[in-house]
Amino acid sequence: MSRVLKSGASVRALIIIVCWTGVASRSLAAPQAPKDGLADLIARYDSSSCRECHEDIHQQWERSHHARSLMGMDDWIIMGPYLKGGPLAVKDPAKISAAANFPCAKCHLPQLLPAPDQAAAELAAAVLADDKATVRKLNIGCVVCHGDKAVVHGRPEPGVLYGSRDIPDHPGRPVKRSPFLKSALFCGQCHGLGPVLDFENPIQCATLYGSYLHGYIPSGGSQTCQDCHMPGANHYMPPNFNNRPETAERLRQALPLEVNVMAYRFQPKDGDFRPMMVVRTKITNRAGHRIPDG
Ligand code: HEC
Ligand code: HEC
Ligand code: HEC
Ligand code: HEC
Ligand code: HEC
Repeated sequence: MSRVLKSGASVRALIIIVCWTGVASRSLAAPQAPKDGLADLIARYDSSSCRECHEDIHQQWERSHHARSLMGMDDWIIMGPYLKGGPLAVKDPAKISAAANFPCAKCHLPQLLPAPDQAAAELAAAVLADDKATVRKLNIGCVVCHGDKAVVHGRPEPGVLYGSRDIPDHPGRPVKRSPFLKSALFCGQCHGLGPVLDFENPIQCATLYGSYLHGYIPSGGSQTCQDCHMPGANHYMPPNFNNRPETAERLRQALPLEVNVMAYRFQPKDGDFRPMMVVRTKITNRAGHRIPDG
């Protein structure tokens, strides 16, 4: 689906929604931004305060797709075409909600779903105005993974971060142990099993976790997503599709191609020589799931 979505971006430039730009600039103006609006959501999930002490991890994360989860390849806003036409389109600006217009947020911006509708309305205005500077500030940051998404049994406690062990005196917020962070299901929460049917307008995007669970594990696979994608807790988590040479090299390693060729001459009758060739190819998939996804 992601490939189809990318192609949808090309029509975006042709569509001009003039009436929305005014709403965007008014409601996003920082000084009078209401509490619980978009500015508040951005501030509550901002990762920059963690940079000071977790500099390497912050730099790795900053280059990852998680740090730009509403932007597609080469920096276009993925929700643009969807809010302009089709079942998720904004029909009445007074009735924008995360559940109706942003089911994509379930995985691309999970913090939006519990936020007040005001945040969704301001985000819609920013998307329709193609306000990239604002939309780029929304992402899957440290607090999304180490807070909201880090617990499945019970609810994450407000103001608590989760890690591999308890650190009660961690600066700013205490860290509690959550073994769940190391499981494949942690990533599977967003990396998808199939269609997301829990919204009025069901959608399907990433389904890679389904392939991991039903293909890789039953054939004897034993590694987790983290084993392969986060060696040494590296938060860059490639592939990074904006770096084409790096991605091409990674795919060459991931999908080795073996070619065996045997050439011979076939002589069906005297004096009739026909050049023949047997070519055997074998592509091995070393990933823990199908490639590409979607
Ligand atoms: C003033 C310094 C400082 C700041 C700011 C800070 N941390 Fe930490 N953090 C630490 C130290 C020190 C440790 C313990 C590291 C160790 O022993 O390896 C730690 C540990 C952690 C752990 C547990 C790692 C594990 O072992 O699983 C997590 C998760 C974490 N920090 C996340 C964050 C996040 C998210 C932020 C921003 C909201 C943040 N930290 C801000 C200093 C800081
Ligand atoms: C079930 C979770 C989930 C939902 C719901 C979801 N996505 Fe995704 N999406 C992902 C994940 C995970 C990726 C990246 C991994 C992949 O492609 O396998 C992704 C990738 C993409 C990409 C490619 C991004 C890039 O940088 O190349 C686009 C575009 C996209 N999604 C748009 C959408 C839109 C628009 C919606 C709503 C109509 C949506 N997605 C709903 C999880 C989801
Ligand atoms: C997409 C989810 C995700 C995001 C975003 C994320 N983390 Fe993590 N982080 C993890 C997982 C999973 C682990 C455990 C990895 C492992 O041990 O294999 C981890 C481990 C860590 C650790 C422990 C490292 C170690 O050496 O064991 C620290 C510290 C940490 N993260 C801090 C951060 C900070 C700071 C940010 C934001 C800049 C951040 N994380 C963003 C998922 C995430
Ligand atoms: C909160 C939801 C969420 C969680 C948790 C999450 N991801 Fe993602 N991940 C996404 C989305 C959404 C994208 C695509 C963002 C974009 O480019 O628009 C993505 C992108 C990626 C990519 C880049 C390739 C691509 O298709 O964009 C990799 C690799 C990846 N994630 C691995 C992981 C791993 C490994 C974990 C667990 C340690 C994890 N993710 C946890 C939502 C999530
Ligand atoms: C055995 C190792 C292995 C395991 C386990 C694994 N991956 Fe991968 N994954 C790879 C390799 C290899 C690639 C190919 C691209 C690359 O290396 O950058 C890849 C590619 C991806 C991509 C990009 C897919 C695309 O459309 O091109 C995403 C997203 C991803 N993995 C997420 C995950 C998640 C989430 C899990 C756990 C559910 C997981 N991976 C488990 C090795 C693994």
